[in-house]
Amino acid sequence: MNTQNENACSFGVKGLGINSIAELSYLFSEWKQSGFDKICIFGGKGLGKKMEIFLNEMANVKVDFYCDNAESEWNENCISPKQLESFKHQVVVFISPYNYQSQIMEQLSKMGIRHIIPLVSFRIFQDYILECKKIEMKKSEFVQQGSNKHRGKLELLADENYEKDATKAIGNAWIETDRYYDDSENNFHPEGCGMDVFWGKNSTFLKYFEQLDCSSIVELACGHGRHIQKYLNKAKAITLVDINEENIEFCKKRYSNDTKIKYVVNAGSNFSGIEDASQTSVFSYDAMVHFELLDIISYIKDANRILTNGGKILFHHSNAAYAPEKSWIKKPHSRNFMSADIFAYLALRHGFTVLSQDIFSWGYGMNFYEHLDCLSLCQKIRDIN
Ligand SMILES: C[S@@+](CC[C@H](N)C(=O)[O-])C[C@H]1O[C@@H](n2cnc3c(N)ncnc32)[C@H](O)[C@@H]1O
Repeated sequence: MNTQNENACSFGVKGLGINSIAELSYLFSEWKQSGFDKICIFGGKGLGKKMEIFLNEMANVKVDFYCDNAESEWNENCISPKQLESFKHQVVVFISPYNYQSQIMEQLSKMGIRHIIPLVSFRIFQDYILECKKIEMKKSEFVQQGSNKHRGKLELLADENYEKDATKAIGNAWIETDRYYDDSENNFHPEGCGMDVFWGKNSTFLKYFEQLDCSSIVELACGHGRHIQKYLNKAKAITLVDINEENIEFCKKRYSNDTKIKYVVNAGSNFSGIEDASQTSVFSYDAMVHFELLDIISYIKDANRILTNGGKILFHHSNAAYAPEKSWIKKPHSRNFMSADIFAYLALRHGFTVLSQDIFSWGYGMNFYEHLDCLSLCQKIRDIN
């Protein structure tokens, strides 16, 4: 990359359509070495603030101050252009407002400021803003759920196949997704569903799991069986259930030496093939968050059938009961329609006591969603069948 400036200023338009964080960091280190070690954002509102977050979070660069033409904006963090002039041999300036960008560039270059980056030409930042906008839209609709509002006509927005067989469509999303299975098992998964979440020392999942009697345990939606190794030694009998035959076959091979494991490929909504009152626990992680509410009702009901009295369910499910017309795939982290309260209601109505529920956030950085999920631990207190 050529960082030598033929002209006085390194205008963004002159080739600084910076495409990657690496490129940006490289430029910063070059500039820093030649004494340009102060970062300023021109225009402190809106986009300027986003720029500061972006530089800090994505490029680990700290903004030193703002500058603005408007006197009303000046404060200890925001200087006037005249004050900025005294930093001209040290400062890199990002220009945030779209409207006056060319005028400000001219103004700054006349002042002798050499490193000026207008945001319109700063491609990675544009992508970032677009992404933020999408996420803000998603978030605002997510937050809406508690507010007073009138609602008009609602129609299912989901595509045709989804309407026809939602259970199957959801199941199909987990065929040949080796990246998910490998990454999540190795703690690399970008959505934050690595092993630590479930089995880390301070994990609520672990705290609840320890309350299960593992004498005869069912793991629902087992995937490639990454959780089994964590309870294999404790359990006397294990039944693995999954809608996808590929996953069950994978687990059969993986655990071929373990005679205490049984395998069931199901149709996605019940525990058929498992005997009545034969199990002490049923649990499911990182899967039911995507399931159809109608299937969850059926699973809770059938869990009552296969559990002994006093047996427990431990289910990680969604807490995103909003936008009922939308398909799960279009919601944050593909969470389906369900909430802690709805789940509690269903459990209570199907012969369970709710022992404990934990609502928690999911994701990192821009994909962080507060209160998106819930973990429910419930105990069977009576037969309903
Ligand atoms: C995200 S993976 C999680 C796998 C595993 N629980 C884990 O944490 O590694 C989702 C799993 O749910 C399974 N699945 C999807 N819909 C299902 C349904 N209705 N009933 C049972 N399993 C289902 C998929 O086949 C897949 O194994």
